[in-house]
Amino acid sequence: MSIRHFLTLKDCTPEELQQILQRGIALKQELKEKGHHGDPLKNRSLAMIFEKASTRTRLSFEIAMTQLGGHALFLSPRDTQLGRGEPIEDSARVMSRMADAIMIRTFGHDVVETFARYSEAPVINALTDDFHPCQLLADMQTWYEHRGPMQGKTVAWIGDGNNMCHSYINAAMQYDFQLHIACPEGFEPRADLLEQAGDRVTLMRDAKAAAQGADLVVTDVWASMGQEDEQAARMEKFMPFQVNAEVMARAKPDALFMHCLPAHRGEEVTAEVIDGPQSVVWDEAENRLHAQKALLLFLLGK
Ligand code: CP
Ligand code: NVA
Repeated sequence: MSIRHFLTLKDCTPEELQQILQRGIALKQELKEKGHHGDPLKNRSLAMIFEKASTRTRLSFEIAMTQLGGHALFLSPRDTQLGRGEPIEDSARVMSRMADAIMIRTFGHDVVETFARYSEAPVINALTDDFHPCQLLADMQTWYEHRGPMQGKTVAWIGDGNNMCHSYINAAMQYDFQLHIACPEGFEPRADLLEQAGDRVTLMRDAKAAAQGADLVVTDVWASMGQEDEQAARMEKFMPFQVNAEVMARAKPDALFMHCLPAHRGEEVTAEVIDGPQSVVWDEAENRLHAQKALLLFLLGK
């Protein structure tokens, strides 16, 4: 059987994504009821390469491996030969001969693509400048737990056309929903992704118009990791794209609010919204653990 990687949501079929979602829910339930999963990944190792900071991703993958009976290793470029210029191709060949799966958080998406090409083990994208598919597994599970199937719903993405926005575009295609994107001029998502998505995705310039009638409102930081220098310059341009009570008032009365976190209260979202009754951000964060367990089992053929 050929190796499966998870670099974007497009690496799975919609049916497989639904299976992963249902398994994530079942694993969450099993952990609550029994307190363990019977060690399905005993003696298996996940190598985790982090070239950017992380709280949720590191915790969730490391704890997922422990709870599945396996082991996770944290590798920072500062302490590995990757940081001293060992080629990605060589690192991939070496690491994948020992580890059973490899998780990478890095800058260029081409890094995970190259790594996957030379890897003998499944490679998981744990965030690149272009995509963050693991977050979408958690978001879609969270939606399902609160509201059922995502099919036919309307999601408003308000803010930067960044890695999370790109993964929402892929999600619109894979989970079959409509996506309204509101972003400032010059901060649009990739044109090729918009083109692929066709009429499933609508690009707008007004936050309230995007939120109109939405079932789910989502945002993210205005300056992503690696864009810290642009933070100040972005503030003014992004302020009209803040998710606040007025924006939420345009969505359906039972609309949910999500944010992958970390959040900046008073910037992309007000405290009133993120700490309010429509926000499901803590379930969303917790579901990283359950959804990624399902992903690991899927990729490792369990
Ligand atoms: N949402 C997310 O990926 O969080 P971390 O950056 O803390 O991993
Ligand atoms: N867009 C953000 C997501 C963080 C989880 C970033 O890339 O920094």
